[in-house]
Amino acid sequence: MYNFIVTGGCGFIGSHFIELILSRGYSVLNIDKMTYVSWDNIGYENHKNYDFWKQDICNISNLPKSDYLVNFAAESFVDNSIGNSEIFFRSNVQGVHNLLEHIRMKAKFDRPVFVQISTDEVYGDTADGKFTEKDILRPSNPYSATKAAAEKFLIAYNRTYGIDYITTRCSNNYGTRQYPEKLIPKTIESALNNRKMTIHGDGTYIRSWIHVKDHCEAILKLIENKHYNNVYNICSCKEYSNLEVVNMIYKAMDIEPNLDFVENRWGQDLRYAISTNKILNTISWKPQYTLKENLHEIINFYKENNETDS
Ligand SMILES: NC(=O)c1ccc[n+]([C@@H]2O[C@H](COP(=O)([O-])OP(=O)(O)OC[C@H]3O[C@@H](n4cnc5c(N)ncnc54)[C@H](O)[C@@H]3O)[C@@H](O)[C@H]2O)c1
Repeated sequence: MYNFIVTGGCGFIGSHFIELILSRGYSVLNIDKMTYVSWDNIGYENHKNYDFWKQDICNISNLPKSDYLVNFAAESFVDNSIGNSEIFFRSNVQGVHNLLEHIRMKAKFDRPVFVQISTDEVYGDTADGKFTEKDILRPSNPYSATKAAAEKFLIAYNRTYGIDYITTRCSNNYGTRQYPEKLIPKTIESALNNRKMTIHGDGTYIRSWIHVKDHCEAILKLIENKHYNNVYNICSCKEYSNLEVVNMIYKAMDIEPNLDFVENRWGQDLRYAISTNKILNTISWKPQYTLKENLHEIINFYKENNETDS
């Protein structure tokens, strides 16, 4: 019996969530199939309350008893989904379906609450204003379409089988252990290795950034306060263009920007923006970190973990 089953806990956000719940005294089983983004030596591997299964969520044939299942497992890189979305459909939709099927087979009192870590990208983009949880989902790329599809399965399994869930839709995260295909670590690694940083289009696309620890704290508070069968937007709502973020990193590293403007991403979202009124009115939570103040922590992490090109 575990307090938590966490899937995808060897990835960026899942690993920070596991750190948080272990520090609060919870027990956890981490199920991760270890894709190219995963970390295998995070530091809590020998913790007495930690167990690990190396497994694909699509192939799981039994789920041990737990109070909560928090699903971070997903293919998460939009550019890859534009090239070939098959594995995205499998992990992000069929994987969720398989987990839900195992939960529905259990007796009602034995079922964990399903916490689905979704994304603000399910709304698509907007030139002005902010999406609320009541807005319809208009995903722009295959990745966000799979995340939207997974959300719909949760709603259907709640209505049909009575499975409890929480869905969170968070904005872009920053922090340590993010795979360097994503904007912030990719810029840092490009600068460290004297490579040009590629920028899609003219780099004016707006994203809203949140520290991974603020995101994890919000998830845990929603769980601990038992706000089930609801969807919550999460962000710190500080907006930057991609170019602003990249320039901020070069400045913090005291290196001249070295940029390569390349063809825009197909289906590029112009601006993500979500309202957080619902979560702010539901739990006592507010973001503690800012990107500017925490860039050095992230830069230092990638300096220590830098694999040079040579
Ligand atoms: N990174 C962000 O800014 C962000 C923002 C909002 C939402 N999200 C969502 O949060 C979740 C975690 O994102 P992340 O950035 O940590 O992702 P990540 O790519 O860093 O990590 C994903 C983890 O899931 C595992 N995984 C993938 N497919 C699996 C499968 N079929 N079975 C078992 N494990 C599998 C991988 O091995 C990896 O360890 C994702 O669902 C993503 O959609 C991410």
